[in-house]
Amino acid sequence: MKDNIILIGFMGCGKTSVGVRLSYQMRRTMIDTDKWIENKQKMTISDIFDTYGEEAFRRMETECLKELIQTAERQIISVGGGLPVREENHRLLKELGKVIYLKVTPETVYLRLKEDTSRPLLQVEDPLKQICTLMQKRAPVYEACADVIIEVSELSFDEIMNQIMAAV
Ligand code: S3P
Repeated sequence: MKDNIILIGFMGCGKTSVGVRLSYQMRRTMIDTDKWIENKQKMTISDIFDTYGEEAFRRMETECLKELIQTAERQIISVGGGLPVREENHRLLKELGKVIYLKVTPETVYLRLKEDTSRPLLQVEDPLKQICTLMQKRAPVYEACADVIIEVSELSFDEIMNQIMAAV
Protein backbone atom coordinates (compact mmCIF):
# COMPACT_ATOMS: atom_id res chain seq x y z
CA MET A 1 0.00 0.00 0.00
CA LYS A 2 1.20 3.50 -0.81
CA ASP A 3 1.42 6.39 1.62
CA ASN A 4 -1.33 8.64 0.25
CA ILE A 5 -4.42 9.84 2.11
CA ILE A 6 -7.62 9.39 0.11
CA LEU A 7 -10.87 11.20 0.90
CA ILE A 8 -14.09 9.55 -0.21
CA GLY A 9 -17.76 10.34 0.38
CA PHE A 10 -20.92 11.71 -1.15
CA MET A 11 -21.05 14.96 -3.15
CA GLY A 12 -20.99 17.89 -0.75
CA CYS A 13 -19.43 15.98 2.19
CA GLY A 14 -16.46 18.36 2.18
CA LYS A 15 -13.76 16.23 0.49
CA THR A 16 -12.30 19.16 -1.39
CA SER A 17 -12.31 21.74 1.41
CA VAL A 18 -11.01 19.20 3.95
CA GLY A 19 -8.40 18.07 1.42
CA VAL A 20 -7.15 21.60 0.84
CA ARG A 21 -6.74 22.19 4.58
CA LEU A 22 -5.06 18.80 5.12
CA SER A 23 -2.70 19.50 2.30
CA TYR A 24 -1.71 22.79 3.93
CA GLN A 25 -1.43 21.32 7.41
CA MET A 26 0.53 18.20 6.39
CA ARG A 27 2.57 19.93 3.71
CA ARG A 28 1.49 17.44 1.10
CA THR A 29 0.22 18.28 -2.34
CA MET A 30 -3.39 17.61 -3.16
CA ILE A 31 -4.96 15.97 -6.17
CA ASP A 32 -8.67 16.02 -6.94
CA THR A 33 -9.78 13.34 -9.43
CA ASP A 34 -12.51 15.61 -10.87
CA LYS A 35 -9.96 18.38 -11.51
CA TRP A 36 -7.49 15.84 -12.92
CA ILE A 37 -10.11 14.62 -15.41
CA GLU A 38 -11.24 18.16 -16.29
CA ASN A 39 -7.65 19.19 -16.99
CA LYS A 40 -6.96 16.12 -19.07
CA GLN A 41 -10.18 16.42 -21.13
CA LYS A 42 -10.11 20.23 -21.16
CA MET A 43 -13.83 20.11 -20.36
CA THR A 44 -15.98 20.53 -17.27
CA ILE A 45 -17.53 17.47 -15.61
CA SER A 46 -20.97 18.64 -16.80
CA ASP A 47 -19.75 18.85 -20.42
CA ILE A 48 -18.13 15.41 -20.15
CA PHE A 49 -21.45 13.93 -18.93
CA ASP A 50 -23.36 15.74 -21.71
CA THR A 51 -20.96 14.84 -24.50
CA TYR A 52 -19.71 11.35 -23.62
CA GLY A 53 -22.15 10.15 -20.94
CA GLU A 54 -21.67 8.92 -17.38
CA GLU A 55 -20.15 5.55 -18.29
CA ALA A 56 -17.31 7.24 -20.18
CA PHE A 57 -16.71 9.50 -17.17
CA ARG A 58 -16.50 6.40 -14.93
CA ARG A 59 -13.85 4.92 -17.22
CA MET A 60 -11.89 8.18 -16.95
CA GLU A 61 -12.03 7.90 -13.15
CA THR A 62 -10.53 4.39 -13.25
CA GLU A 63 -7.86 5.58 -15.68
CA CYS A 64 -7.06 8.43 -13.28
CA LEU A 65 -6.64 6.01 -10.34
CA LYS A 66 -4.36 3.77 -12.40
CA GLU A 67 -2.18 6.70 -13.29
CA LEU A 68 -2.07 7.92 -9.68
CA ILE A 69 -0.88 4.50 -8.55
CA GLN A 70 2.11 4.98 -10.84
CA THR A 71 2.83 8.55 -9.81
CA ALA A 72 1.33 9.63 -6.47
CA GLU A 73 3.25 9.30 -3.20
CA ARG A 74 2.56 11.13 0.09
CA GLN A 75 -0.30 13.11 -1.41
CA ILE A 76 -3.83 14.03 -0.37
CA ILE A 77 -6.25 12.65 -2.95
CA SER A 78 -9.89 13.69 -3.05
CA VAL A 79 -12.04 11.49 -5.30
CA GLY A 80 -15.40 12.11 -7.00
CA GLY A 81 -18.43 10.91 -5.02
CA GLY A 82 -19.28 8.12 -7.46
CA LEU A 83 -15.76 6.80 -7.98
CA PRO A 84 -15.83 4.10 -5.28
CA VAL A 85 -18.95 2.53 -6.81
CA ARG A 86 -17.06 0.80 -9.62
CA GLU A 87 -15.93 -2.60 -8.33
CA GLU A 88 -12.56 -2.33 -10.05
CA ASN A 89 -11.80 0.88 -8.18
CA HIS A 90 -11.97 -0.72 -4.71
CA ARG A 91 -8.67 -2.50 -5.13
CA LEU A 92 -7.11 0.56 -6.73
CA LEU A 93 -8.20 2.78 -3.82
CA LYS A 94 -6.79 0.34 -1.26
CA GLU A 95 -3.54 0.17 -3.16
CA LEU A 96 -3.30 3.94 -3.28
CA GLY A 97 -3.27 4.53 0.48
CA LYS A 98 -5.35 5.15 3.58
CA VAL A 99 -9.02 5.70 2.71
CA ILE A 100 -11.02 8.14 4.85
CA TYR A 101 -14.79 8.24 4.40
CA LEU A 102 -16.47 11.54 5.25
CA LYS A 103 -20.00 10.42 6.08
CA VAL A 104 -22.77 12.96 5.75
CA THR A 105 -26.59 13.00 5.97
CA PRO A 106 -28.76 13.51 2.86
CA GLU A 107 -30.25 16.68 4.43
CA THR A 108 -26.80 18.25 4.86
CA VAL A 109 -25.92 17.46 1.25
CA TYR A 110 -29.21 18.92 0.06
CA LEU A 111 -28.72 22.17 2.02
CA ARG A 112 -25.17 22.55 0.76
CA LEU A 113 -25.88 21.77 -2.89
CA LYS A 114 -29.40 22.95 -3.60
CA GLU A 115 -28.17 25.95 -5.60
CA ASP A 116 -25.26 24.08 -7.22
CA THR A 117 -25.37 23.47 -10.95
CA SER A 118 -22.00 21.73 -11.39
CA ARG A 119 -23.19 18.22 -10.36
CA PRO A 120 -25.00 16.70 -13.35
CA LEU A 121 -26.51 13.89 -11.24
CA LEU A 122 -28.37 16.41 -9.06
CA GLN A 123 -29.93 18.45 -11.88
CA VAL A 124 -33.28 16.69 -11.46
CA GLU A 125 -36.75 17.72 -10.36
CA ASP A 126 -36.42 16.36 -6.83
CA PRO A 127 -32.74 16.54 -5.81
CA LEU A 128 -33.36 15.47 -2.19
CA LYS A 129 -35.00 12.26 -3.36
CA GLN A 130 -32.12 11.64 -5.77
CA ILE A 131 -29.59 12.27 -2.98
CA CYS A 132 -31.41 9.77 -0.70
CA THR A 133 -31.60 7.11 -3.43
CA LEU A 134 -27.95 7.45 -4.44
CA MET A 135 -26.76 7.58 -0.86
CA GLN A 136 -28.64 4.45 0.12
CA LYS A 137 -26.98 2.62 -2.73
CA ARG A 138 -23.53 4.02 -2.06
CA ALA A 139 -23.26 4.04 1.74
CA PRO A 140 -22.33 0.31 1.97
CA VAL A 141 -19.77 0.77 -0.78
CA TYR A 142 -18.12 3.71 0.97
CA GLU A 143 -18.06 1.74 4.21
CA ALA A 144 -16.49 -1.27 2.54
CA CYS A 145 -13.73 0.86 1.01
CA ALA A 146 -12.95 2.89 4.13
CA ASP A 147 -10.13 2.43 6.62
CA VAL A 148 -11.56 5.27 8.73
CA ILE A 149 -15.14 6.60 8.90
CA ILE A 150 -15.87 10.12 10.19
CA GLU A 151 -19.46 11.35 10.60
CA VAL A 152 -19.06 14.96 9.56
CA SER A 153 -22.57 16.47 9.51
CA GLU A 154 -22.51 17.59 13.16
CA LEU A 155 -18.81 18.42 13.36
CA SER A 156 -17.04 21.74 12.95
CA PHE A 157 -14.29 21.99 10.40
CA ASP A 158 -11.65 21.92 13.17
CA GLU A 159 -13.18 18.82 14.73
CA ILE A 160 -13.09 17.06 11.36
CA MET A 161 -9.46 18.03 10.92
CA ASN A 162 -8.56 16.79 14.42
CA GLN A 163 -10.22 13.44 13.82
CA ILE A 164 -8.40 12.96 10.56
CA MET A 165 -5.05 13.98 11.99
CA ALA A 166 -5.56 11.54 14.87
CA ALA A 167 -6.38 8.73 12.44
CA VAL A 168 -3.46 9.11 10.05
C1 S3P B 1 -20.30 12.55 -8.77
C2 S3P B 1 -19.62 13.39 -7.91
C3 S3P B 1 -18.87 14.57 -8.37
C4 S3P B 1 -18.39 14.37 -9.81
C5 S3P B 1 -19.53 13.99 -10.70
C6 S3P B 1 -20.25 12.71 -10.26
C7 S3P B 1 -21.06 11.40 -8.22
O1 S3P B 1 -17.76 14.82 -7.51
O2 S3P B 1 -17.39 13.38 -9.86
O3 S3P B 1 -20.42 15.07 -10.72
O4 S3P B 1 -21.39 10.47 -8.97
O5 S3P B 1 -21.34 11.42 -6.99
P1 S3P B 1 -17.88 15.42 -6.01
O6 S3P B 1 -18.16 14.28 -5.09
O7 S3P B 1 -16.54 16.02 -5.76
O8 S3P B 1 -18.97 16.42 -6.03
